[in-house]
Amino acid sequence: MWDPKKYLDFADHRARPFFELISRIDAEKPRRVVDLGCGPGNLTGVLAERWPDAQLDALDSSPEMVQEAQERGINARVLDVHDWAPDPETDVVVSNAVLQWVPDHLSLLAEWLPALRSGAWFAMQVPGNFDAPSHREIRALATEARWQAQLAEIALRSADAVSTPADYATALATDDTIVDVWETTYLQRLSGPDPVLEWVTGTALRPIRAALDDEDWREFRTELAARLRMAYPARSDGTTWFPFRRIFAVAHKSSS
Ligand SMILES: C[S@@+](CC[C@H](N)C(=O)[O-])C[C@H]1O[C@@H](n2cnc3c(N)ncnc32)[C@H](O)[C@@H]1O
Repeated sequence: MWDPKKYLDFADHRARPFFELISRIDAEKPRRVVDLGCGPGNLTGVLAERWPDAQLDALDSSPEMVQEAQERGINARVLDVHDWAPDPETDVVVSNAVLQWVPDHLSLLAEWLPALRSGAWFAMQVPGNFDAPSHREIRALATEARWQAQLAEIALRSADAVSTPADYATALATDDTIVDVWETTYLQRLSGPDPVLEWVTGTALRPIRAALDDEDWREFRTELAARLRMAYPARSDGTTWFPFRRIFAVAHKSSS
């Protein structure tokens, strides 16, 4: 279950890649713009502002996220990306920080790209931080004897969910597609106590939270907090550097 309020902590840091992603989409008057995995809808609103004449299709598999988006005035609907396909009116597809939750997404790209019409744009961004200390510490703790039976499978499931930039370029490149793929590591400056723990609580720890009762969850978080403080020490001014790698891929089907 997603907690939209928790996810919206650090909204500035989470939003920046979205703006950098959509800045590479050069569509002038798209008819339909799709937000695949719209989350709480705060960024979907940016799509509506950029293309006010387009029909916006916002979808997400989480009813909690869809409700939050609807409360912001976004006409969002509950739908899993596996059940979505482009239609002939689809001119722009944006999927920001979603496909890392969809382990078979390379095969979905192989279905979606040929189905997009000439001139359409597909833009995605995924975190590329599964080898970062934050995620290594989660996996190391979850596979310790104390937690292994409850958590090892869950923690290891997502370890290779994201591919390399070259894999995305290859998946999106067809004879009639121009592909633009890049990666960035943001050196994020977080503040407050245990900020990395708070960050991952809104995202990577969700499946772990769902698998534990309240008492075990408190214990797991306490143990993880100590590890993350070592991995990401607070600076003398109280802030913490949290490097975060992200991978971007934009494909434009050339008009023919
Ligand atoms: C990290 S949030 C990103 C939300 C939004 N795109 C943003 O940039 O703020 C990930 C979202 O992906 C959604 N999601 C995960 N798996 C999905 C799936 N199979 N189909 C549709 N949405 C999915 C989650 O429900 C969640 O809202």
